[in-house]
Amino acid sequence: MLKLLFIGDIVGRPGREMVAESLPRLRREQAIDFVIANAENVAAGAGITGALAKSILESGVDAITLGDHVWDQRGWENEITEMDHVCRPANLPAACPGWDHVIISARGFRVAVFTVLGRSFMGMKAECPFLCADRMIAQLRAQADAIIVEVHAEATSEKIALGWHLDGRVTAVLGTHTHVPTADAAVLPKGTAFICDVGMTGPYAGVLGRETKPVIAKFLDGMPRRFEVAEGDVRLSGALVEISASKAHAEKIELLTVRKG
Ligand SMILES: [Fe+2]
Ligand SMILES: [Fe+2]
Repeated sequence: MLKLLFIGDIVGRPGREMVAESLPRLRREQAIDFVIANAENVAAGAGITGALAKSILESGVDAITLGDHVWDQRGWENEITEMDHVCRPANLPAACPGWDHVIISARGFRVAVFTVLGRSFMGMKAECPFLCADRMIAQLRAQADAIIVEVHAEATSEKIALGWHLDGRVTAVLGTHTHVPTADAAVLPKGTAFICDVGMTGPYAGVLGRETKPVIAKFLDGMPRRFEVAEGDVRLSGALVEISASKAHAEKIELLTVRKG
């Protein structure tokens, strides 16, 4: 049995510090073999830089995924080409820089991960996530023992439909992007672990990780404002998936919440 922790959208400094503080102990206590984290919000809530990616990998994350905020930091489009263990969403246009997947290994077992962006209520230019996932799976099957698909999307229906579409063909389909953990973690009938959203890693005393006041004010008058990263009630949120080494199916999935102690 192998254990994978998938950490949801790390938000700003509070999220980065939470990962650095809690991950070494979590890895030890829970005997975790693989850690994947979505880091699309690490740079003050929007995007990522090369230096931040390096520090997250040094804090015990094995692979970094990204979402619709992938290009928010200027220069990252050049830095991403230099980085291993970091991938951008696989269904972006092929001309975009960066890897479309990452393969990590532990105890002789190889795990491939890739992200697809949803298309319902999402602004990015992206190809069909269902067809992209089919193509990626065909390509990765020979290179990895288990495949983890991250569905970075707004609509629960799109995420759930993709989970059923891939049931039995990948080890897990794990949702991110909404920053709110959902209570539907389950192993689907053919052995694929699924959850609509693993939640964010960052300050929950705010609105999706941002300070409350400017967000409420924007809802009231519609005027643009800076949304600084919030501070209070910092939590690490993710999904713990147990993988059968022989079948590469998921045996179990549970939502993991760690509060700042
Ligand atoms: Fe996010
Ligand atoms: Fe996102």
